[in-house]
Amino acid sequence: MIWKVPYINLGKQFKNLEKELTAEFKRVMNNGDFILRADVKKFEENLANYLGVNHVIGVNSGTDALYLSTDALEIKSGDEVITVAHSFVATAASIVYRRAKPIFVDIGDDYNINSNLIEKVITKKTKAIMPVHLNGRSCEIEKIIDVAKKYGLFVIEDAAQALGAEYKGRKVGSFGNLGCFSLHPMKTLSCAGDGGFISTNNDFLADKIRTLRDHGQKIKGDYLFFGHNSRLDNLQAAILNVKFQHLDEYIKKRREIAEKYNEELSSLPIILPPAPSNEKYFDTYTSYVIRTDKQEKLIKFLRAQDIESYIHINQPLYSYPGLNLKNFHLKNNEKICKEILSLPIYPEMNDKQTKYVIDSMHKFFSEDSS
Ligand SMILES: Cc1ncc(COP(=O)(O)O)c(C=O)c1O
Repeated sequence: MIWKVPYINLGKQFKNLEKELTAEFKRVMNNGDFILRADVKKFEENLANYLGVNHVIGVNSGTDALYLSTDALEIKSGDEVITVAHSFVATAASIVYRRAKPIFVDIGDDYNINSNLIEKVITKKTKAIMPVHLNGRSCEIEKIIDVAKKYGLFVIEDAAQALGAEYKGRKVGSFGNLGCFSLHPMKTLSCAGDGGFISTNNDFLADKIRTLRDHGQKIKGDYLFFGHNSRLDNLQAAILNVKFQHLDEYIKKRREIAEKYNEELSSLPIILPPAPSNEKYFDTYTSYVIRTDKQEKLIKFLRAQDIESYIHINQPLYSYPGLNLKNFHLKNNEKICKEILSLPIYPEMNDKQTKYVIDSMHKFFSEDSS
C-alpha cells in the first residue's frame, strides 16, 4: 500500500543518500570485509564520541544489547530487576532470559518509569534497575542513578528509542553502567536490517561484552564462558557511518515536525506528548505519541485518509508470557495503553504531509463532536 503519509519513508532516505551508500556497499563487497572489520571499529568510535562515553560495542540488535548486558552483569535466577511494562517486550525479556524476575513499576505521564516508586519495590533480591527512555525522551535518570548508588544496584539504560536524547545536556546511555541502543529500521539512526550497540564507561564490562558478543571464552585474561554470536555486521556499520553524518540533522527535522504538531494540535481534545524540550530534556521524537479516548476510531479515520499511524504499545499488560501483570500496581500504565497513538514523524516528511496530518486530525475531531 502506498500511503499519502506513511509512518516512515526509508526508501526516500535511501534516495537522498544513494550515491554514498552504493559506494560504501561496493567497497565493502569488493574487499570482502564482513566480520568485525574497520567499519565496525569506526562506527564504535563515532558513537562513543557522540555519546561522550569510553566504549561502544556494536551488536546484532537492541534486543541483543539488552541480553548481553544482563548476561555481562551476571543477573541470575532469584535476582530481581526493576523496570517498566510500558516498553517493547525485549526489555522484560532480557531479564526473564536470565531466569531473573522483572519487577514492574508504574509510569508517569511522560510514559517513562515513575522514579518516585522505585525505592518502594527494592528488596534484598534487587540487583539492577532497567529504566527505558521511551519515544526519544529521557526518563528521570539522575534520580534513578542516585537510588541505584544508595542501594548498590546496577543501572542498565534501555535507550533503544532514544539515541541523541539528553538529560540536563548529557546524552542518555552515558549515565548507567550500560546503555542499550537499537539500530532497527524504525529508529532515528537505522541500518538495513537489525543492529544495535552497548555504551559504557567501564573498561572491564566493555571487554567482557566484546568477548560475549563473539562466542565468549578468552584464554589469557581468564573469563572462559560460552558466549553469543552477536556482532554488528561490517556492512551495516559502513551504512551506519554514512547515515551517522546526518544524525543531528535527522533529529532537528523530527523536532521541527513535533513543534508544528505541538502548535497546531494544541486546540484539540487530546493529550500532547510531554512538555517540549527545556533545560532538563532534549527530546528526539523517535515517536510522536498523543493520547485520546478515541484511539481505535482515530486510527481507522487516519487510515481512510491514507495516513499510517500506530498503537505502539497496546499489548503488554496482558501478553508477557508467564508474568501476571495484575500482581503489580500499574494503574497509569493500564490507562495510557488504551489511549496512545503514534503519528507519522520522520526527517523526509515534507511540509505538505505534516499539514495534511494536522488538517486530518482537525477534521476527525470536528466531525466526531458534531
Ligand atoms: C524500548 C526498546 N527496547 C528494546 C528494543 C529492541 O530493539 P531491537 O528491535 O533492535 O531488537 C526496542 C525496539 O523496538 C525498543 O523499542
